[in-house]
Amino acid sequence: MASSVSVFGTCTHAVVRDIPDSLAAEALRMGGDEEVNLEKARREHQRYTQVLSSELGLQLLQLPADPALPDCVFVEDTAVVCGDTALLTRPGAPSRRPEVEATKKALEGLNFNVVEMTDEAATLDGGDILFTGKEFFVGLSKRTNQRGAEILADVFKDYAVSKVTVTGTLHLKSFCTMAGPGLIAIGSSEHAQRALQIMQEMSDHRYDKLTLPDDQAANCVYLNIPNKGHVLLHRTAQEFPNSAKVFEKLKDYTLIPVCNTELAKVDGGLTCCSVLLNKRA
Ligand code: GLY
Repeated sequence: MASSVSVFGTCTHAVVRDIPDSLAAEALRMGGDEEVNLEKARREHQRYTQVLSSELGLQLLQLPADPALPDCVFVEDTAVVCGDTALLTRPGAPSRRPEVEATKKALEGLNFNVVEMTDEAATLDGGDILFTGKEFFVGLSKRTNQRGAEILADVFKDYAVSKVTVTGTLHLKSFCTMAGPGLIAIGSSEHAQRALQIMQEMSDHRYDKLTLPDDQAANCVYLNIPNKGHVLLHRTAQEFPNSAKVFEKLKDYTLIPVCNTELAKVDGGLTCCSVLLNKRA
């Protein structure tokens, strides 16, 4: 086991990227045609980045938007970082592949050991990668394939890597994230519960679970912050009142509700908008 991630959720930097105007009309979406209010999307995103920087003290690497890349705000999909190694992905949607370049420069600038996924048979989106602190789960989805999972396993050799078929949503983390050390946040839909069952069957570890009535609310951002301890960014009570009640029962947490109504219309969750890094590792 690598010692570099001994305190799960410890983080010093976050890569984020601004929202291009083109997101409203051109960002990929699985379904629905609800119009994105760009101004509101930017306000919500600004609150997200301010929480990470001003409230939690992370150093932000804020990349400029690229109008040619409508989905570029969703930086999570471009890299998987663990310890001092960053695997640049080969996103499943060809239109998203050029997004990786800006993340590459940012991570190289921070002296990460950057590994590129060059195999043209491989696809992988960071949104399909759940790192529990003990092992990786890789969602096999419309965006991530077996070869992508094999390459990730090869790069992060210290950890077990298990594959989970994802149905009914875009990414594994669309309905499943870590809400704390050993604590899996999971949605209530049949798709989410089936994925959890597969993960439990494949793992040698035992996890607690935090079951949220709403799948989207199960996408939350856990951080361990000096002088604050457990911190969780989660969707608001206005968006998901029943799920908010579940979060409110967490003991010894600083809970930070963050609204994400607009990016959710183009399948973006809270984790999608950052790559979290620990330069103390
Ligand atoms: N709009 C996010 C994605 O489809 O990748």
